[in-house]
Amino acid sequence: MTRNRLCLVVALVAAAMTLACAADAVDAGGASSVETAPTVTSDAPAPPTTAAALAIPDGAAVYQQYCAECHGVDLRGTDKGPSQLSIIYEPNHHGDYAYRVAIREGTREHHWWFGDMPPVEGITDLEIEKVISYIRAEQERLGFEQ
Ligand code: HEC
Repeated sequence: MTRNRLCLVVALVAAAMTLACAADAVDAGGASSVETAPTVTSDAPAPPTTAAALAIPDGAAVYQQYCAECHGVDLRGTDKGPSQLSIIYEPNHHGDYAYRVAIREGTREHHWWFGDMPPVEGITDLEIEKVISYIRAEQERLGFEQ
């Protein structure tokens, strides 16, 4: 083998190795882009599947945040406010409208001796509707105190 031929063979081998390495790199790149795909797409918001993801307030949580302090964690009242299960709060006597007004504007002491109910600060309209639904559902589930 002449020296020129040897050089040609070496050059061909080198070229073949370069091609093989390039192919590996493409494979590795392909594989790693598949692996990182979830990371790349995780910037997109997840599909909203729960009430929390849709930012719909949970009535029970709203009640605990804004009402439980006076009306009791179990709705049965405290020394600061009456039980929401009192028969006087059944829907025909205190309709949902009375709830909205009481929550937004507060109410003067008139049925009980706990003092006035102050307006509930910081509650949104949607939270008001959710908390009323929650209280109505609990009144139905637990029954009214006679
Ligand atoms: C700081 C205490 C306090 C908080 C907080 C409070 N209440 Fe009251 N609430 C009262 C008191 C006291 C009364 C009773 C007034 C009376 O003598 O009739 C009352 C009465 C009511 C009434 C009857 C209103 C009427 O027309 O007679 C409703 C309905 C009511 N509360 C709902 C709620 C809801 C729902 C929340 C939470 C979003 C809430 N309250 C938070 C103290 C409170």
